Amino acid sequence: MKREVKASTDLIPTPVVLVTAQGLEGPPNIITLAWAGVVNSEPPMLGIGVRSNRHSYRLLMETREFCVNIPHAGMVRAVDVCGVVSGKDTDKFALTGLTPEKASKIKPPLILECPINIECRLRHTLDLGSHTLFIGEILTVHRDEAILDEKGKITLDKFAPLAYCPGVHDYRAVGEKLGWYGFSKGKMS
Ligand SMILES: Cc1cc2nc3c(=O)[nH]c(=O)nc-3n(C[C@H](O)[C@H](O)[C@H](O)COP(=O)(O)O)c2cc1C
Repeated sequence: MKREVKASTDLIPTPVVLVTAQGLEGPPNIITLAWAGVVNSEPPMLGIGVRSNRHSYRLLMETREFCVNIPHAGMVRAVDVCGVVSGKDTDKFALTGLTPEKASKIKPPLILECPINIECRLRHTLDLGSHTLFIGEILTVHRDEAILDEKGKITLDKFAPLAYCPGVHDYRAVGEKLGWYGFSKGKMS
């Protein structure tokens, strides 16, 4: 038996990412976001949902550049810290011990400890109500060689991503491999 509940964002799980942004002046900042996803392939684009009262909101609007840094499961504590402390009055790089690394095409830094860093330029904003959707075009991507297989592709045998469960408020590790794109072909008939 299903229980019908009020409209809620039960999209479980979501990714959880660390977005770096930097204003025209001042230090770079890190914000934890669960409202994040791929929104286009050609050109490759990501969307992130940010509330207007976040310090990061102003930084994103100012320089219109950001980096989506993908943490590994071992970074869960730093991920939570960047989601409960504001950069308005705290340097989150200093607080977490995370390392800023120069980006190649944008002003905000990458986070060295994140195995994947996606540099984006802001293309569109859309005020949706509680959050503004920032759509960024992906300019370039950095992948740590430690998470690549012998063919240079990302392998989850070497990279343990982190997932977030909205509503439940849990962080979870991504689990065992169950199949792959198109694996069902030929097995259904
Ligand atoms: C797991 C998690 C997910 C979050 N997702 C979002 C989100 O998608 N959008 C948002 O505006 N805030 C989100 N937050 C809240 C911000 O990360 C938090 O308010 C942060 O302190 C804002 O930092 P800033 O003021 O330095 O920008 C999330 C927090 C956590 C812990």
